[in-house]
Parts: sequence; C-alpha cells; structure tokens
Amino acid sequence: MYPSGTLRISELSPEERTVYDKLKPERLPEHVAIIMDGNGRWAGQRSLKRLFGHQQGAKSVQLVTETASRIGLPWLTLYAFSLENNLRRPRAEVNFLMRLLRSYLESNLQRMMDNNVRIRYIGRTHELPPEVQDKMRWAEDATARNTGTTLTLALNYGGRSELVDAFRALAAEMQHKHMGPERITEEDIHRHLYTAHMPDPDLLIRTSGEMRISNFLPWQIAYTEIFVTERFWPDFRGIHLLEAIADFQRRERRYGGLSELCGEVEEDPDRIRIVAG
Ligand code: FPP
Repeated sequence: MYPSGTLRISELSPEERTVYDKLKPERLPEHVAIIMDGNGRWAGQRSLKRLFGHQQGAKSVQLVTETASRIGLPWLTLYAFSLENNLRRPRAEVNFLMRLLRSYLESNLQRMMDNNVRIRYIGRTHELPPEVQDKMRWAEDATARNTGTTLTLALNYGGRSELVDAFRALAAEMQHKHMGPERITEEDIHRHLYTAHMPDPDLLIRTSGEMRISNFLPWQIAYTEIFVTERFWPDFRGIHLLEAIADFQRRERRYGGLSELCGEVEEDPDRIRIVAG
C-alpha cells in the first residue's frame, strides 16, 4: 500500500478509476520500469516521419507519469535513449531526440511540479551534449524536493556498460581497501549500480510486442515480472499502466521458492517427492 499522502485518486479518469478500483492495495508494485518501443512503427503506420512518433511518444511519457503520480507509484523508470540508439541511429534522429528531450524538460517542468514528480537519470549521461546535460540538471534540481513519484529516465544507458562502470568502481574500492575478490558480495555490486538508491523493478513493461530485454537493467530485473503489450508506445496511456499492474497482481512471485499450490514436501531423504496439495 502506498502512503496515503501521495494518492490523488480523484484525478484519475473514470476509465482509469474503474481499473484502479479493482487493484489490491496491498499488492501494488513499488517500481515499474518501461521499455518504450514502437515510436517509428506508429509513425510509419500513419505515413508520418519517425520523428512524429517520438514527439507523440514524449506526450505518452508525460501522461503515463501523471497517472503513476496519481496512484502514488514511488518509482517509474523509462528507457528513453540507449547507448546503442546513440551509436547506431542516424545522427539526424539522435539530434532530434536530444532536442526533444530538452524541450520536454522545459515545457513539462511545471506539470512535474504540479504532480509532485521528481526527475532523475541513469546512464552515461556525461557523454550527452553539454546543453542537454545543463537542462537535465536544471530539471533535476528544480524537482529535487518533490516527494511523489521519482521518474528516472535512462539516457545513453546500457545494462552491460552499467555493469562495467560498477565493476570498475568496485575494483577501485577494493584496491583502496586492500580487499581480496573472495570478499565480493551481491550487495557490493548493487551499491555501485546507477540504481543503488532504488528498489529493483517489480514490473517491467515493454510496448510494441517485442520479446526482448534490449540491455535494460539486466542485473535489476532478475526477479521482475515482465508484461509485453502489442500497443505502440505513442498509444500507451495511464489506463494501460493500470491494466499492466492488474495483470501483475494476478501473478504469483516466488523468487525461486515454492508455490503455495505445490503441496508439501515429504522429508524422507530416500523418497523425495512432492505430496499433492
Ligand atoms: C523506441 O521507438 C523509442 C526510442 C528509441 C526513444 C524513446 C523516446 C521517446 C519515447 C520520446 C522522447 C522521450 C522523452 C523522455 C522526451 P523506435 O524508434 O525504436 O520505434 P520502432 O522500433 O518502431 O522503430
């Protein structure tokens, strides 16, 4: 259950309210991560240039964030721009995405403030153009005291490069502390990830139907439930976030343990078998 101070349920649309009212308050996710995919195909279906798809995708970002903030979701993390996008997309498209990000931050700052949203970033953001970094810092500073949803944009992000960065930092720390490798724990690695300050995602949503992780948060999603929708990102709205949460609530999370429906395990070591429940 989320702290009641962060809830603004009365601001949900009637359609969203219908889905929300069926959710179990005791099983809401703390952290939802989204791979926003299908901007180009959305535009192509309408004989528009890809850039229109990205523009429409930016609107989805704001609308989905607002619904997340109304239901009090503590953490929302969006894959906005990968290292691979940066390296492999035409320069003109990368430049457009950078301009779009700047204008998004500028024109949505007031709405983020109104919705009590705090914005942060993960990724090799120091490699982005300086004017983009300036705008990012500006929005981060302006929203730093907001206490509702933390919207984290993954920008120039790659999961494997995050692990490389973490291992480099950990190796330097170990050298400094004269620590041997046998003392490394999972917690040591976690502490050096970009996401060290947040819980792992409970739910990962991917739009546009692809069944891939695409190098997004590979360490953090070890036990995350995955929800894939055919819908393209520019058509994704708050109600679809709520529907994905409803689907998540129908799953049983076992973290490598046993299901309650599995029955009891007989403890005779010579006759290990599952007793039907
Ligand atoms: C995938 O669509 C989406 C991206 C590469 C970028 C995501 C960017 C946005 C949602 C808009 C800007 C975001 C912010 C925060 C301002 P694609 O182009 O790979 O689609 P395709 O697979 O159909 O070609």
